[in-house]
Amino acid sequence: MAFLILWFAVVAAALASAASGYRDLTADFYSETCPQALPTIKLSVGAAILKEPRMGASLVRLHFHDCFVNGCDGSILLDDTDGMIGEKTAQANNMSVRGFDVIDDIKSAVNTVCLGNVVSCADILAVAARDSIVALGGSPYEVLLGRRDATSASIDDANDGIPNPFMDFPELLANFETHGLSLHDLVVLSGGHTLGYSRCLFFRSRLYNESDTLDPAYAAALEEQCLPDSDDDALASLDDTPTTVDTDYYQGLMQGRALLHSDQQLYQGGDGDSDTLVKYYGANPDKFWEDLGAAMVKMGNMSPLTGDEGEVRENCRVVNQ
Ligand code: HEM
Ligand SMILES: *[C@@H]1O[C@H](CO)[C@@H](O)[C@H](O)[C@H]1NC(C)=O
Ligand SMILES: *[C@@H]1O[C@H](CO)[C@@H](O)[C@H](O)[C@H]1NC(C)=O
Repeated sequence: MAFLILWFAVVAAALASAASGYRDLTADFYSETCPQALPTIKLSVGAAILKEPRMGASLVRLHFHDCFVNGCDGSILLDDTDGMIGEKTAQANNMSVRGFDVIDDIKSAVNTVCLGNVVSCADILAVAARDSIVALGGSPYEVLLGRRDATSASIDDANDGIPNPFMDFPELLANFETHGLSLHDLVVLSGGHTLGYSRCLFFRSRLYNESDTLDPAYAAALEEQCLPDSDDDALASLDDTPTTVDTDYYQGLMQGRALLHSDQQLYQGGDGDSDTLVKYYGANPDKFWEDLGAAMVKMGNMSPLTGDEGEVRENCRVVNQ
């Protein structure tokens, strides 16, 4: 009888831990095991941005693309192996996501100060994204920690999970809803495009299309950078101030100056509630800073591995031996 009760207790505890997910995450997860972890990540992110200002954008995007494929579990960082094609060559990532070397440097710095393998790669991505936003002018917010790392990754899951810039409004919203995110989250998180750049490949089709609604002066300037037959990799910034977290992105949407079709869809793309939110954030930088932090936390809490699920990877590129 005592054995049975014990057995039930163990099963109940296992079920509770499997079901709780993000509720297991805590802001002070490393305060005992490695109090230097967070300051070390912040220093490394600051150094990386000083070396290359665009890196802040790239680190924010890395966290987003990690979270949109089976939750924030560091899966995007795994290199392909003989038996596994991971996420790095998926459509949205191939030759596009960047920052892997910076994450490697942060991971080894953190392993050094923690005297061992304590901090997960998934947590490093979440903290590096926050530190990038703060370094580039956003407001500080608290990241919940304790994510564990996936032991596999899938190119198909990445192709299914990450939205693409040719989507219309309903597809963008449907994509966010499959991840448990709302219209409000879509508009606020798309404000991540206050940072960084896009390649010509992703906006060229808009420039040479009579029926597109792009502001003519803006289109003319972009046409010089992104010729019909030019290099797909030529870059244009996603808003006027690509290394500052501000509301220029939303103001651009209202002026027909969104770089990507998917961005322009958020304003006059058919959804009045979305238009209202774009106007609101365009006029209220303080609200954008505050709500961006809250939305990043919500995105960062998507389906983490916790407890004894997954592992803490020693090297973010490979599963532990
Ligand atoms: C709503 C759907 C979204 C679509 C369709 C989309 C699409 C894209 C595309 C096509 C690029 C350019 C990639 C390249 O040129 O190789 C890009 C860049 C970027 N995206 Fe998004 N994105 C979306 C949402 C987000 C979200 C939610 C965030 C973060 C919260 C984000 C952050 C970024 C950043 C920071 C960059 C610039 C990266 C760099 O310069 O290295 N995006 N996005
Ligand atoms: C990734 O990009 C490279 C270079 O353009 C290309 O050769 C390769 O086929 C792409 N991989 C996938 C899976 O599309
Ligand atoms: C041109 O724009 C229209 C309206 O946005 C779109 O339906 C069409 O597919 C675009 N054509 C090309 C070649 O991109």
